Amino acid sequence: MALIKVTIDGIETQVEEGTSILNAARSIGGKIVPPAMCYYSSLKGSGGKCRTCLVKVTQGSEKDPRPMPKLVASCSTNVMDGMVVENTASQDVIDARKSIVEMLLVNHPLDCPVCDQAGECSLQDLSYEHGLSTTRYEFERRKFDPIDIGDHIKLHMNRCILCYRCLMVGDQLTNEREHGIIGRGDHAEISTYLEKSVDNEFSGNVIDVCPVGALTDRTFRFKSRVWFSKPLNAHRECTTDKCSGKSVLWMSDNDVLRVTARKDQNNEVKEFICNTCRFDKKDVKDWVIEGPAHISRDSVISQNHYELPITHKYKALENTAKPQ
Ligand code: SF4
Ligand code: FES
Repeated sequence: MALIKVTIDGIETQVEEGTSILNAARSIGGKIVPPAMCYYSSLKGSGGKCRTCLVKVTQGSEKDPRPMPKLVASCSTNVMDGMVVENTASQDVIDARKSIVEMLLVNHPLDCPVCDQAGECSLQDLSYEHGLSTTRYEFERRKFDPIDIGDHIKLHMNRCILCYRCLMVGDQLTNEREHGIIGRGDHAEISTYLEKSVDNEFSGNVIDVCPVGALTDRTFRFKSRVWFSKPLNAHRECTTDKCSGKSVLWMSDNDVLRVTARKDQNNEVKEFICNTCRFDKKDVKDWVIEGPAHISRDSVISQNHYELPITHKYKALENTAKPQ
């Protein structure tokens, strides 16, 4: 396929035709990559909901160099040959992102001290970078009671930013979706329709794709702050159709506190895992340990994690591990 040229924050790259601005930026990497709260490359149709990925197009293309009149969502706007884009280089983008974060936080509770997602929450990261230290909102926040979605998943609707990722997991990874969004605007909420459980072998993946702490793992809740546990890459020969069996074990000493799918440098899961791997295999002997999972230096989870000593410690366990 023909390659076309795009310049983002002064850095030129070449990408295939049909690539979005966001993915072009990801191919360059680093600080110029816009944040994305709803787009998820392995979920078809995701993106275009949260507006955190807005960028400024200062030149539409080589052929038509006029700038685009408004900021555009980089996840759902494709690059054109000769396009020039500004992300962190544009004050307009920085200001818009601040406003979007403020809007996302209008109804979001200050739960970080008690939320299991703290330390790996995209909204927490965004608000550190772009948020105000105070709120201008004077009205009562919308409130929902937390509900159990089946035996393994807890929904805290107060924290949901309506990114639709979990619905796409339901649509695309499982045979039938059992939850959806009901209501509009301020009243919109994730619902399992009459509190029916979400009950299928891949439902646990909604926990990994949720960018905030709205969907959390009931088998892990309140067991540990994530930065106190040690993440190890591990795999097992899983017999569930479409399960990769490639996971991260979050360890405390020799105890497996939780199991998640692996995330890439963009914080996205590319190979999903089944509920048996996620919720039922909590013995280290169920797994073949590969070594420490690499955590980005920007994450609080990387604090106090020294990969070399961890490797030595768990290499010893590897001999005793029996995959099932
Ligand atoms: S529960 Fe999480 S994944 Fe689902 S729409 Fe809300 S924020 Fe997105
Ligand atoms: S990531 Fe682009 S609109 Fe949400």
